[in-house]
Amino acid sequence: MSGLSGKRVLLIVAGGIAAFKVPELIRLLRGKGCGVTCVLTEAGRQFVTPLTLQALSEAKVYGDLFSLTDESEMGHIQLSRSADLVVVAPATADILAKMAAGLAGDLASTLLLATDKPVLVAPAMNVRMWLHAATQANLALLAARGVRSIGPDEGAMACHEFGPGRMSEPPAILAAIERLLDPPQLLKGRHALVTSGPTHEPIDPVRYIANRSSGRQGHAIAAALAALGARVTLVSGPVGIADPAGVSVRKVETAEEMLAACRAALPADVAVCAAAVADWRVANASGGKIKKRPGVAAPTFELVANPDILATLAAAGPQRPRLVVGFAAETDDLLANAQAKLARKGCDWIVANDVSPASGIMGGDENAVHLVTATGVEDWPRMPKQLVAERIAARIADVLA
Ligand code: CTP
Repeated sequence: MSGLSGKRVLLIVAGGIAAFKVPELIRLLRGKGCGVTCVLTEAGRQFVTPLTLQALSEAKVYGDLFSLTDESEMGHIQLSRSADLVVVAPATADILAKMAAGLAGDLASTLLLATDKPVLVAPAMNVRMWLHAATQANLALLAARGVRSIGPDEGAMACHEFGPGRMSEPPAILAAIERLLDPPQLLKGRHALVTSGPTHEPIDPVRYIANRSSGRQGHAIAAALAALGARVTLVSGPVGIADPAGVSVRKVETAEEMLAACRAALPADVAVCAAAVADWRVANASGGKIKKRPGVAAPTFELVANPDILATLAAAGPQRPRLVVGFAAETDDLLANAQAKLARKGCDWIVANDVSPASGIMGGDENAVHLVTATGVEDWPRMPKQLVAERIAARIADVLA
């Protein structure tokens, strides 16, 4: 049985000559047991008829935002709610611009603004329109918001020009949909250990030292590794986000507890230390609540160094995971500090990110990272933490698969 069986794609068909390839895409999806609901824009109707799409998808084709019957039967929000993935094919320069600007003047653009599902676009347009700075800027903005894209391909175009702009062929779009809805289980049989979130170091039973880490990046990495079939142990400090599905979570508070949970989880094939571990704990933490008393000076705390979990895992001898990945959260001299950390901690990769307040990264939804390895530095564009996680997971699969 295909992994697409029982899944549902909401297919938005915009107005481009490449719409002639859409019936073939629907046929391929239906052949895999995937449900397809089509939304056809006004311009799309000039290239393909609702009847063709309806016959192939065996489902009603939507097109008019203001149809009262559609609204009562299935509102525009409901349409995307029942889908696992929204695909825009062909994605014209016009609909990409609408998506980037957040316009909602018709059903297709309203759906794209309202959806919380993953979106895949298959751009198709004249080569000059594709290369135009406006289109490229729109696509970069959409990518930073997590919109995935496939193509366009290069070749002869209907407008007698040559270059990039042809919509990818239906089998390639189908493969991209499969990668999203049914990722290959490249890490099946592998055990991944991930640390995430902050640690809390007690001062007394009601107070603690902490940091601003939200755990979003670490949790997303755990989820991305699990999506590739890995057995994942997530050792998490106190966070306000949900446990990722399909992952076993060990909840800890302090750095010492985190280290103990990591040791207990070994052996692992890969360790990803994304936690923002407190470097120090309070040596003279009080067993009872510290009270302020008139005339008594404010307390002073003696700090002692916490164990370095990343360095400990990287030096675990026969228990050392094959791949040990650390993070470097820096506010200054990002790459120099990251390279120094790679050597000092004995890990294989450092994912370096700028956490200065102006970057908005700590606690935010996006990340801009640099992958530092023994062979050099890769600069990745700013993108949602989920996409950073998927990319890190894919790179780990390259090494371990
Ligand atoms: N780390 C760890 N245990 C610690 C401190 C850090 O495992 N006690 C890990 C983090 O999970 C991260 C990497 O080490 O993968 C770097 O963390 P970071 O806070 O950037 O650096 P530090 O080692 O704390 O060094 P500094 O604070 O001097 O930058």
